[in-house]
Amino acid sequence: MHSSIKQFSPRTPRGNDTSATVREEVRTSNTISNHADDLKESPLFQQPSNGQKRPPTLFVVFGAQGDLTKRKLIPALYNLAASNHLPQEFAILGVDGIPMNTEDFRAKIGQDIQELSSRPIDTTIKEWLLDRLYYLSGDFRDPQTYARLQDMLTQLNTAHGTQGNYLYYMATAPTFFAEIVQQLGAKGLLVEDRDEFSRRIVIEKPFGHDLPSARSLNQALRDVLDENQIYRIDHYLGKETVQNILVFRFANGIFEPVWNRQYIDHVQITVAESLGVEHRGTYYEKAGALRDMVPNHLLQILSFVAMEPPNTFDPEAVRNEKAKVLRAIEPMNPVDVLQSTVAGQYEAGSIGGRSVLPYRAEVNVDPVSLTETFAAMTLGIESWRWEGVPFYLRTGKRLHTRVTEVVIQFKSAPLMLFRKTPVDRLTPNVLVIRIQPDEGISLSFGAKIPGPKVQVGTVDMDFQYAEYFGDAPSTGYETLLHDVMAGDATLFQRSDSVEVGWSVVDPIVKVWESLGLHAIHPYRSGTWGPPEADALLAKDGRMWRNHN
Ligand code: BG6
Repeated sequence: MHSSIKQFSPRTPRGNDTSATVREEVRTSNTISNHADDLKESPLFQQPSNGQKRPPTLFVVFGAQGDLTKRKLIPALYNLAASNHLPQEFAILGVDGIPMNTEDFRAKIGQDIQELSSRPIDTTIKEWLLDRLYYLSGDFRDPQTYARLQDMLTQLNTAHGTQGNYLYYMATAPTFFAEIVQQLGAKGLLVEDRDEFSRRIVIEKPFGHDLPSARSLNQALRDVLDENQIYRIDHYLGKETVQNILVFRFANGIFEPVWNRQYIDHVQITVAESLGVEHRGTYYEKAGALRDMVPNHLLQILSFVAMEPPNTFDPEAVRNEKAKVLRAIEPMNPVDVLQSTVAGQYEAGSIGGRSVLPYRAEVNVDPVSLTETFAAMTLGIESWRWEGVPFYLRTGKRLHTRVTEVVIQFKSAPLMLFRKTPVDRLTPNVLVIRIQPDEGISLSFGAKIPGPKVQVGTVDMDFQYAEYFGDAPSTGYETLLHDVMAGDATLFQRSDSVEVGWSVVDPIVKVWESLGLHAIHPYRSGTWGPPEADALLAKDGRMWRNHN
């Protein structure tokens, strides 16, 4: 968008002694990621020497043979073990339909760790984890599976001293969520005594495919669970920079006073992927970009950017504020949908010099598919803080590059003081919160270009996570798993947020579906989406911040 004339160097460059001090301060200070420390003392929690709470836990994974377990959960548990964030009293029980014994399961997971770990393998840690790993084969629909599960839980609980704290992770297809939870409930395996032991379940999106289905899933869960036993993962909230939005806003005195309609012109949230639909055609055909990304990831980011400051960092206080701002999103009628949203679908093209197929030629995709792979929209928030400030959201596959960022564009200076000089236009200040890759925050502002004439150039103040804190080997699941074990729900979606998300998206889906082909604008792979998405901002006199 603009060219930087100068990059300011970070205060503490990589490798400098001071950066180690900064890292240590950050680790030991009361940041969001160790906000569990704020929770009341409870016999559930142990206090190990590093001050982190690591309650004894029996971690039960339904879908133990699946991709999520292999690619995310096991590597994340390995990383937690390696960073001393798991309790000694810990065991994992994998449950799945594929017949296998514990010995073979350990051998399989051992290989998976070897193949997928994001850090060099330490054999002692790997063995420590494998020694605590067990397997139970059984059909998720068969009550017998749960009778055997009950026996095994009792045995493992005694053998590993896990004090009755059971964490059930649903790494299965969503069709099994309600069934498994009801079967666990029928066996009494979800009854907890909050002062003595916990019973929690973790589920992952999709939480339904529209408002009615999300409501009925929530209802099925609440038939056997309290809301505070349910941890709905949105893996975007495990990303450091998403959590850092709250720290940036609320741990600094200087940004909050300008974080409102008086100073902010508009906000852009972009979640762009260069990958296509890969092997997920069957799922994606029914979901599309809108359902897949907006009610969850994009609206979660929006809620962090736009929420009011909570009174405390107590999980309920934070989640109340998030839900409040989502409820304030202006509802769209069909005319609004036509004017304020754009759907697109990728065609053939080239990304990074490689030719790629059109969406309709991907595996398990209908050759005349009407599923959108790109969605953009303008949202308004009806609140004192945000009245009149548009929030532009876009997400898509096969876009020019992979980038997730929030752009806060401020209003221009109120007075043009430089009229008798070559300066005829001032560039507004832009704050960019880069979520991935190259996590960081940059603020651009105008500076005088050296020389006898007054000329203004745009410069950046740039903070890069990796430069200050190094590259942490992480899957993005470590904080989330740690927080579930510690009973901290701040970074998880509550049922009301999920339902509000669908109520924002459902009216858009309805109009797009009724328009069929006419709703879908084709775009070449490797671009920034259909031209109609540019027109969406152009009609407001604005532009997306794109990258070369
Ligand atoms: C998932 C979506 O929730 O998020 C995928 O189902 C998408 O379609 C993915 O690719 C993006 O996650 P990330 O962490 O790679 O940005």
